[in-house]
Amino acid sequence: MKTDKLYLVGFMGAGKTSVARALGRRLGWRVEDIDHRIEERERRRVGEIFAKDGEPYFRTVERTVLNELLPERHIVIATGGGTFVDPDNRTAMLSDGAVAWLDVPLERVIARVPADGRRPLASDRVQMEQLYARRQAAYSQAHVRIDASKPVPEVVERLLEWIGY
Ligand code: S3P
Repeated sequence: MKTDKLYLVGFMGAGKTSVARALGRRLGWRVEDIDHRIEERERRRVGEIFAKDGEPYFRTVERTVLNELLPERHIVIATGGGTFVDPDNRTAMLSDGAVAWLDVPLERVIARVPADGRRPLASDRVQMEQLYARRQAAYSQAHVRIDASKPVPEVVERLLEWIGY
């Protein structure tokens, strides 16, 4: 799939941020991280936004940040785990660039994502598992599914192959 823009989607702990950085270096493209942009804009951490203003507010900021990135080209975007789950965001992303789902098994997510409050939706493990199951249908609408249980360099090679670089 020839493209000048790549979105990485998938659950928390899939490695979206690390893969985006490595891929950006290989392509010589800019790298953006939706969560980082939200934190910069709000001048506070994701955990604090959820705690003080709740998830609906966080999702509004997330949507704004995504919309700001729509005109950008030659860019790799690491999304947050929920960005692609929103139907409007999903439609926008699918028509704007190439969307790759970094798929990891739940056991890997559990091992990789600490319940430390940095990710508010990961603090209750039972709820996190339910969320993982519910979101599969959304993630599966990405243009491609990549097995992200592989090491980062392998995931990067697979993505480069897919976009024809
Ligand atoms: C979320 C995932 C987080 C962050 C926020 C909500 C989610 O991003 O956007 O905590 O809804 O899955 P990561 O996937 O980068 O951890």
